[in-house]
Amino acid sequence: MALKGLADVTLIDIVEGLAQGKALDLAQSAPVEGFHGRIRGTTDFSALAGSRLVVVTAGLARKPGMSREDLLAANAGIVGPIAERVAALAPQAILLVVTNPLDIMVALALQRTGFPRQRVMGMAGVLDTARLRAFIAQRLGVAPTDVEAMVLGSHGDLMVPLKRTILVKGKPLSALLPDAEIEQLLQRTKDGGAEIVKLLKQGSAFYAPASGLVEMAAAILGNTRKTLPVCAWLEGEYGLRDVCLGVPVQLGASGIERIVELELTPQERQALAACAEQVRQGIKSLTTLPAATT
Ligand code: LAC
Repeated sequence: MALKGLADVTLIDIVEGLAQGKALDLAQSAPVEGFHGRIRGTTDFSALAGSRLVVVTAGLARKPGMSREDLLAANAGIVGPIAERVAALAPQAILLVVTNPLDIMVALALQRTGFPRQRVMGMAGVLDTARLRAFIAQRLGVAPTDVEAMVLGSHGDLMVPLKRTILVKGKPLSALLPDAEIEQLLQRTKDGGAEIVKLLKQGSAFYAPASGLVEMAAAILGNTRKTLPVCAWLEGEYGLRDVCLGVPVQLGASGIERIVELELTPQERQALAACAEQVRQGIKSLTTLPAATT
């Protein structure tokens, strides 16, 4: 974010020295990279005060073989209290959640902040879409930016890539690759996070998630009204309510400015409803966690 000149950035971590060290390292790249924003690191949550945008990445990452849902109890105990502190210290902030299981953590952040749904959202769709675009570009030997796609739904196995809308510089992907190969690329996208976790053995993806959240932050801080797939609380859009799900969202200075309703096929609607059902179960399970009752 600093590199793109979007804002002054404060890193907060509970581990003594970690955020401070990272902030120094990053700030020392400024003369070479030519950016001007301030970067600070601290363990002191009061540094949140007055923030315009708060990004929450705190939480445990998956270990090989784990699903994102396996992180629910531990990460709810981390994200819940952070959301409360954001509400107390930066009551006007827009909250952007990255912690997994993503859709459920967004719902938790919404509950704990009491913020309007315009100001609480999650980053996953941009990442899942970027993975799909990258895989297609690699397969075809074209520029990744020339591949247009959109992945909706939850950040997990049930995610919904809109296959029929994928375009490569205006050409439908179905005219460029056989269906079986397209299906393989979609499956690799669904497994994209796990593929990296398995390779790293410790921790999960960093760079593409960072790019995804920076794209969202740029749209918000720059008030660009760009439409991106964003995890948002639904109140009847796509026939769904009381659930967080990845849908196309126009982002601007007030956060979620508009949820864009695309025409979906019956199959796509069904797939989205299946995501909603799974996320609802996760949200329900929040109430039975000890962390949620303290
Ligand atoms: C991923 C994790 C961060 O998809 O959810 O890489």
